[in-house]
Amino acid sequence: MPTPFGIRRRIKRLLGLPVDAPTTAPEADAGPQITLIVVGPNGQEQSLDAPAGSTISGASMKLQRPISTGCPDSTCGTCHVEILEGGENVSPTDGRERATLKTQGMPDGQRLSCRATVTSGTVKVRAFELM
Ligand code: FES
Repeated sequence: MPTPFGIRRRIKRLLGLPVDAPTTAPEADAGPQITLIVVGPNGQEQSLDAPAGSTISGASMKLQRPISTGCPDSTCGTCHVEILEGGENVSPTDGRERATLKTQGMPDGQRLSCRATVTSGTVKVRAFELM
């Protein structure tokens, strides 16, 4: 059974236990696909294909080390990322995202990966914290 924010996976990783593949991400279907490339804090790249319209953090749940998240309502800022390539393929910033980015003091150009969806093509992001 999936846990919120990947808590079970985090605890297993901290204890040095094997981590199961995430089961909460949407499965690929026959619809349009996007490619997401996530560059971690240490420069390591991970990539995957996911259904178009997926949030960046939601799609990243299929990765071995997903983007960290910390809230259910897009207010904490934990999931912030920098769009490195393919910004034209990401949904526009909405009011909730703008408010959180401002409240959390995020620099211009950063996005909340739990709000930003990938509409088409390929998007490459820098994540500041991975699970
Ligand atoms: S998970 Fe909290 S703002 Fe995205």
